[in-house]
Order: sequence, then structure tokens, then C-alpha cells
Amino acid sequence: MKKIAIAFILLFFGFVNLNKADEGMWIPLLIEKFNIQDMQAKGFKLSADDIYSINKACLMDAIVIFGRGCTGELVSDKGLLLTNHHCGYGEIQKHSSIENDYLTDGFWAMNQQEELPNPDLKVTFLNRIEDVTDQVLKGVKKEFSEKERQEIISENIKTIKEESEGETDLKVSIKPFYYGNQYFLFIYKEYKDVRLVGAPPSAIGKFGGDTDNWMWPRHTGDFSIFRIYADKDNNPAEYSADNVPYKPKKFLPISIKGLNEGDFTWVLGYPGGTSYYITSDAIKLIKDVRNPNRIKVRDKRIDIMNAYMQVNDTVRIKYASKNAGASNSWKRWKGEIIGLNRLNTYEKKLELEAQFNDWASKNDEYNNLVPELAKVYNEIEKYIVASDFYREAVMSVEIVRFASRFDGLIKMSESDDDEALNGEVERLNKMMKSFYKDYVQAIDKDIFIELLPMYFLNVDQKFHPELEDVAVQNYKPYVESMYKSTVFTNQEKTQKLLESKEGIKELANDPVYKFYKSFNKVYKEEIFPVNDSLNGRAQYLYRAYMKGLMKMQKDKVLFPDANFTMRVSYGKVAGFSPKDAIDYKFYTTLDGVIEKDNPKIYDYDVPDKLKEIYKEKDFGRYEVNGTVPICFIATNHTTGGNSGSPVLDADGNLIGLNFDRAWDGIMSDMELDPERSRNVTLDIRYLLFIVDKFAGARHLLNEMTIIE
Ligand code: ARG
Ligand code: GLU
Repeated sequence: MKKIAIAFILLFFGFVNLNKADEGMWIPLLIEKFNIQDMQAKGFKLSADDIYSINKACLMDAIVIFGRGCTGELVSDKGLLLTNHHCGYGEIQKHSSIENDYLTDGFWAMNQQEELPNPDLKVTFLNRIEDVTDQVLKGVKKEFSEKERQEIISENIKTIKEESEGETDLKVSIKPFYYGNQYFLFIYKEYKDVRLVGAPPSAIGKFGGDTDNWMWPRHTGDFSIFRIYADKDNNPAEYSADNVPYKPKKFLPISIKGLNEGDFTWVLGYPGGTSYYITSDAIKLIKDVRNPNRIKVRDKRIDIMNAYMQVNDTVRIKYASKNAGASNSWKRWKGEIIGLNRLNTYEKKLELEAQFNDWASKNDEYNNLVPELAKVYNEIEKYIVASDFYREAVMSVEIVRFASRFDGLIKMSESDDDEALNGEVERLNKMMKSFYKDYVQAIDKDIFIELLPMYFLNVDQKFHPELEDVAVQNYKPYVESMYKSTVFTNQEKTQKLLESKEGIKELANDPVYKFYKSFNKVYKEEIFPVNDSLNGRAQYLYRAYMKGLMKMQKDKVLFPDANFTMRVSYGKVAGFSPKDAIDYKFYTTLDGVIEKDNPKIYDYDVPDKLKEIYKEKDFGRYEVNGTVPICFIATNHTTGGNSGSPVLDADGNLIGLNFDRAWDGIMSDMELDPERSRNVTLDIRYLLFIVDKFAGARHLLNEMTIIE
């Protein structure tokens, strides 16, 4: 009763935040201006400069971009870093073989000497953010064409970068926000010696596999541990045995005090991309055309991989990472279609657009934008379809993509720059090693035979390349003959050919390379340019539309779409109800792992050791009500790229690792459903429990600051 009274009073005085619940991925630099009051009202106990500050060590200093598409966070003063198992997966897989099967058995370095270097991996710290809108748009005039505008902007960006790049080891990036209404500059520092410290077996780190992926309830221990190394002055350095553990400006304390429904939580990380402000036509294109097309192609590709992986362990290891990658988006696309339809996002956009058109009709700057965008979508559709099939049905064939990598070399071999040529050969030799290590021709060939006809069946005739020797509709013998005569399936021969210019010329005549070239020609000449120019037109219209939207909805702060820059999302711990009569709790426990246990199903084959610990109830300080918490969900607005991001409590302590979203709210890149959109987090207590009780790697825990 009291609660109702308070809610009523708040409503009456207009204190209620009219923004939809917990929507938004906010720029750390602007938290003070836009969010801090709201955050504190919801339970946050720190101030904005505890998150982001250039004058003192703050939480941002403990966060990194991990590799190319994930987030990680530091948890010790010796450079110890946590991220997801699926983020470290590529590295774990590269170190794995039948003899040392770290994917299956897990890996734990028992001292620093045993930590494994990863030549292809880097982590990136953010030093500072600046609003550079005025400098970037300097000299830009209203009457400029889009091309003129872009030229000046590129020039300006170049100048700003040159001015800021003076400092050693720093990388400068300038990115548009709100479709180019605003620009921010980011100064980054990269560390290149990052070593693998620990990873649980996949039966923990990927428990539930692709069956449970994107789902709640979830029981995945999705974490891996790395360590950043630096030179003796704490600066970035290439791998060297002499490097020492990096000393961070800040690392995150860990809280194992536990959590309750309604608790404030927040996420600091690198969401990759959202499309929150696209028009109704764009929504339609995604849910009715693009997603169904891409799903259709991947259905086939994934089925073929699975069939081979199930019967052969070597193949399973080789294709594990490829398979996980392919099925991840495939499943998300499916969920997006369902979610967008359920939310009636399309219809809601139509309503908003009607309102916008009405508002804009009195103002030249914004008038007619929506109909103009509709025209663009109408024109662009067949180009997008063609480009999706080019990517999904042609370039996803491994041997074709592999052949495409020799493009640069073949061009270079026609010039006299031998130094460049040798450099390229060296690069390709490295690339080839990792390609052949995990290549299974039989799988690739089956995929090629199934996928190629899909391109021809679904793509407008004018984008069909002329292929040599193809009897119409008779792709199978055609593909088979390519495999018979191509050199690319033979590692030794391919390597040998790279040794001379004559050899490289021979590659240029390889049937697979020629196949790739004929498709690429159509793509480059017919598909890409039109796609690109229509896209440019859309960006131009969206810039005005976005500005208009912000003006029209003055009482609301609209967050800028995610663009793989650091963001803050905040919300609360909360279960949800996906369907009538079903209520999801906000947490899962070890009991659920044991319930799912089934040695016959790869995704649910619980390691014996974990079962023993469970039987003996040896849970130590991680125990809650006779079991161990595994995952929890909350209302933080996150997306791909947020994997590995720290989920923090009101005091800024680490309470978990973000790794997924729940299926029922997965369309949140386009529209968040406050009732159902949830980020899925690995409870930090399960991580510590596995490191402690399962792996016996207590030395790692001793490095961390753990608040009990
Ligand atoms: N869905 C999560 C993300 O988007 C996890 C993906 C990895 N896990 C998997 N089972 N494929 O990256
Ligand atoms: N698993 C995703 C990632 O790799 C995070 C889940 C999401 O898309 O929200 O970033």
C-alpha cells in the first residue's frame, strides 16, 4: 500500500522517468550530464567520475576491448583479465590438438611460466574521450552535397588525428554518433602480449552449447582467464619472455555478497551495433527479407557441419569455432523475427513516422524525409539480397574465401616491388598454416554444392556471373571438377607456388580463384557500388531524421546507436514472464546443471569431477541455500560486443560477466521490451567456484580482491 502511495506521488509530481525502462547504451563522458541522477535514483552509489575521468584512476581504466569483438576486465594488479569462454575460444582452440585437447579438458596455468602466448591477440585500453563535433564539421555548409561534406569531414578527421597522434603507442579513432550529428574522438592504447591463463572445459564454459545459446534458463560457465604482459616500463611490447605482468591503473574488486531481485546493476563495455532509429521499411526488410534469407542459407551450412562433427572427434575440434560462429547469428536472426512481430515494431514505427511527418511538414529541413527513405529501401532491396547471398552462399565457402586472400599477391606479382611481394608471401604463409590446420575438404565441398544453387535461385538474374563450364543448373559436377583441379586444397603445392612469380601466375589461373573472381566482379561492379551509394543516401537522410526525432521528442534523451565504443548500460536484476503462466526466476544454480546432465548429449555432458563436487557438496564460500549460483538476468540493455563485459553492483564491484541475452527479448537492437529483454550474466561466484574447487587454481584467487 505504501509503495502504491509513493508511486502515485512520484507520478503526480512528474518525477517518473519517461524514458522506457532501462533502455539505452550511454557514453561514459556524458553520464554526468544525462544519466547520473537517474542512476543514483535507481540505487547507484558512485559518482560519474568514478566511471570516467581523465584526472584519476576510474573504472573505465579496468576495461579493455578484448581481441576484435569482445570486452574484458582486469581483476588483479598483475594484469589478470577475465572475459567469456566464447571470446577466448579462438585462442583456446588454436592451442588445442588431440593430445592437448584444451577445448574438452580445459586449461590451467599453474604458474606464470605455463601461461600461453597468443600472437594474434591484443587488448585495447581507452585513455580518453572528447567531443570533436565542431572540429570535424568545421567548414561544412548546409548547401553542400553529401560528397562535398564527406570530403571536408575526412580532411578534418585526418588533421585532428595527426594533431593527437603525437603521443607514442596511442591510437586515435574518431567516430560518428547519431548518424553524424555528433563526433567523438577516442584515444586507445593497445597491448599485444596477452597470454592464456585458464579456461574451463567446454562442458562448463560452453555448457548447453548452441542448444541453450540465447536462452534462459542458462547454466553456462562462460569465462576464460588471460594475463596482459608489458615491457619493464609497463608499456606495450610484442611477446617476449622478458615481459612482465602489466600493472593496471585500476582493477575491479569482486563481490560475492550475493544479489537480490531489484538490485541495481550496470554494465561497462563495448556494444557493437544497434539500429534503434531505423524506419518501418528497414524493419520490414530485416524481418521479412534479410533474416529469412540468411537463415535459409545457414540452415544448410550448419546441418552439414553438424553431420560431420558428430561422427568424428578430430573434425569436431577443427570445426568447433566455425560452427559456433555460424549458428550464433543464425539463431539471433530467428529470435529477432519473432520478437519484432510480437512487439509490432513495424506498426509502431509507422505511427511514429506519421507523427514525424506531421511535425516535419512545417519545416523544410525535415519535411519528406520518411518518404525519401522509403524510396531508398525500395530501390536497395534487390542489391541487399544479392549482397547477402554473395556473403552467405558464396564467400562462406571456405575454399573460395581462401582463394580470395591471394588477390593482393596476384596483383603485386605484376609489379616490381619485390619487398612488398615478399612481405605478402610471408603473411600468406602464416595465414595458410591456420587455414589448413582446420580445413576439412569433404565438409567444404558438400557445403559448396548445396549453397551455390541458392545464389542463382534467389538473386536477380542481372547479378549472375558468367561461369566457365557450368552446364545450367548442374552445379555438382562443376564444383567437383573444381576441387579436382584446384591447387588450393593442397598445402605443399600452394606453398611451393608462392616461391616464384611463375608460381603465383599459376595461382591466378586456378579454377577456384577464377570462380571467385567472376563472382567478385559482379559484386564489385554491379552490387557494391549501387548498394554503397544508396546507403550513403540513407545515411544522409537518417542524419536529418535523427536530428528531427531528437527535436520532436524534446522531453526524452535518445541514446546514440551502439558503434563499438565504450558504453554504460544500467538496470536491475529481474526475472520475467515469457509466456502466459510461465515465470522465470532471475538466477540459476548448480542443481540445474545436474538436472541437464546427459552423457549421451554433447552439449549436456557434465564433467565427472563437477558431479563429484556436487555430490559432496564441497561448495565452500560460494554456497547459497545448499547449492551454487550459476547465472542471473537483469534489464541492462546490451548487445554483441558486450560479451565479457563486467556486470557491476551499485558500488562498482564485479558481480558477473555478461555473455548473452535471453531469446524472448533478443530484438532489443531495434526495440527493447522492458518486460522481456534481459542480459544474461555469469555469476562471479560460479567463476570463482570453478577456479577454486574444480581447477584448484587458488593462486589466481589470491591475486584478486574478493569482498565477502
Ligand atoms: N550468444 C552469445 C553471443 O552472441 C554467445 C555465443 C557463443 N556461444 C555459443 N554457444 N555459440 O556471442
Ligand atoms: N554473446 C554476445 C557477444 O559475444 C553478447 C550477447 C548479446 O548479443 O547481447 O558479444
